[in-house]
Amino acid sequence: MKPLEKIETERLILRKPRIDDAPAVFAGWVQDPEVTHFLTWRPHENIGQTESMLARAISAWEGDVRFLFMIALKNDDLIGKIELRIEGHRMELGYVMSRAYQGRGYMTETVRAIIDWAFQQSNIYRVYATTGVDNIASQRVMEKVGMLREGLLRKYIIHPNISDEPRDSYIYAIVK
Ligand SMILES: CC(C)(COP(=O)(O)OP(=O)(O)OC[C@H]1O[C@@H](n2cnc3c(N)ncnc32)[C@H](O)[C@@H]1OP(=O)(O)O)[C@@H](O)C(=O)NCCC(=O)NCCS
Repeated sequence: MKPLEKIETERLILRKPRIDDAPAVFAGWVQDPEVTHFLTWRPHENIGQTESMLARAISAWEGDVRFLFMIALKNDDLIGKIELRIEGHRMELGYVMSRAYQGRGYMTETVRAIIDWAFQQSNIYRVYATTGVDNIASQRVMEKVGMLREGLLRKYIIHPNISDEPRDSYIYAIVK
């Protein structure tokens, strides 16, 4: 099962990435140390890294597991990304919004649309995500879309921009 390559919301277009998105993605968020602070990868140092990341994401669309969507305004300006990982009846989310566009409800609108799509699929029963215990903005997005904090995952993941030691995360989920 594959998602649609394009999903429209009131203010946004979620679409499959293209290689020529690299300049906007690089300028928009992947090189930004503030945006990548809580993420599991280091900021990109050159656009070649962004092109490689996009190439991997585009080929992953051939499979059934990992689907990266660019988040764009209706004029196709790229403002962020959301990634879906489908694991049987579960779907995991990971998302990033450019700093210039944060705090306007765009990620909440994106996650709502993805959850709506997921629960229209007969085989998906659970949408979940994990987030650092100090990533308040991400927790707030999940609360706003109705995901529940199910637990604390101790020493769960390394956030290399913060520490080389694994750190605690919360797990949030919504079920059908
Ligand atoms: C998390 C993230 C995607 C949210 O995107 P966004 O488009 O700004 O999200 P929204 O505008 O839909 O909602 C953000 C909410 O967090 C709140 N918020 C943001 N920073 C906050 C803070 N430091 N303390 C309290 N609330 C905060 C906002 O006020 C808003 O809540 P509100 O609508 O109740 O006011 C964005 O902050 C981001 O990209 N962060 C860096 C990458 C990241 O952490 N990704 C998630 C990894 S798990």
